[in-house]
Amino acid sequence: MPGGAANASSDSLGEQQGAGYKPPRLRIRDLSVELPIIQGGMGIGVSLSGLASAVARAGGVGVIATAGIGWDEPDFHTKYKSANNRALRRHIRAVREAGPGVLGVNILVALSNYNDLVTTAVEENVDLIISGAGLPLALPELVPPDGPKLVPIVSSARAAEIICKKWKNRYDRLPDAFVVEGPKAGGHLGFKAEDLDQPEFALEKILVPVVETARKFGNIPVIAAGGVYTGADIHAMLQLGASGCQMGTRFVGTEECDASPEFKQHYLSAKAEDIQIVQSPVGLPGRAIRTPFVKDLDGDSRQPESCPFYCMRGCKKEDAPFCITRALIEAKTGNLQDGLVFAGSNAWRVDSIVPVARLMADLVAEYEAESRRHAQTQEAEPSPLAGVSGL
Ligand SMILES: Cc1cc2nc3c(=O)[nH]c(=O)nc-3n(C[C@H](O)[C@H](O)[C@H](O)COP(=O)(O)O)c2cc1C
Repeated sequence: MPGGAANASSDSLGEQQGAGYKPPRLRIRDLSVELPIIQGGMGIGVSLSGLASAVARAGGVGVIATAGIGWDEPDFHTKYKSANNRALRRHIRAVREAGPGVLGVNILVALSNYNDLVTTAVEENVDLIISGAGLPLALPELVPPDGPKLVPIVSSARAAEIICKKWKNRYDRLPDAFVVEGPKAGGHLGFKAEDLDQPEFALEKILVPVVETARKFGNIPVIAAGGVYTGADIHAMLQLGASGCQMGTRFVGTEECDASPEFKQHYLSAKAEDIQIVQSPVGLPGRAIRTPFVKDLDGDSRQPESCPFYCMRGCKKEDAPFCITRALIEAKTGNLQDGLVFAGSNAWRVDSIVPVARLMADLVAEYEAESRRHAQTQEAEPSPLAGVSGL
């Protein structure tokens, strides 16, 4: 079993754990994860092998972000594709060597080296490939049915339905799970900028129809993402039909997060009003914490730069106001003057840097407290239909 993942059918401990107040295991076909928590892939260089191994060891799904992953390879500027493949292989192997646990990779559909990264992830036998910023309509072509589990990221039931129908028709396959990402997430967002604050696009609103669509196609588990911050939030999403949650922002506040101390410090000092939407050269809105670089963008004083990478398919280098890869690497390595610090809308709530094991233990404790409180409320206020015979 790759990465020490348990087999769902023979996992009696997992069954017991699902009972009572504890968070249930996350099950994705034959993969059974101790906690229903996926650490969101965070590029560039924010979730590499350091964070992913710590999360995997602590019972969640650790995820390596592949965007610009070769940033520290000597030939990153000259041999972009091979540098990224080599770095991805190195980070996957580092997680595997560190011990057992469930490992995913996050590969943006919009990346120009998408196919190469998927092929490397398959060769290195990761447990999951999580893929968004576009619909991964051709992903099954690159991954054998007994390869990594395939998990598209969607922002609507319509997108989930399109993927299911296309995969079924073309490949006789279905996604193994979905991540549904709402408008409070960090990084690139799958909404129009003007829709981000509309109540009908809130995560709890879009989650339910995605769960219904996923059930229609065969009980595909759905993972909720975007603004999930506490164990109580996880409980609320599971009550709405999610099988787990993907969390990004909260994992930036950990010792093992692979970003620079300056990047993390920027989270610690951010106030709610410092978090804003920027228009990415990829053609999608993104959420970030203000830096001098972002202020310059607001003032439109940036000059277009040359393009050393051609990293994103949607990016037109002639029109792009800045190079997203360069801006994200500056932030990851601590140069906030020229850097873009992606962050979810809850980034202002991060107030300390803790070990991943401690964060996971806190999330479990918060989940249990909420679960107990919820059960007591149910007991105190029985359903109006309780006791009615014939039901
Ligand atoms: C710094 C940062 C970088 C991100 N980079 C990526 C990425 O490379 N690919 C991706 O699919 N999502 C990316 N995301 C989104 C996260 O994976 C996650 O789904 C999202 O942030 C969840 O919302 P939360 O931050 O409120 O928990 C990023 C988020 C952050 C905060």
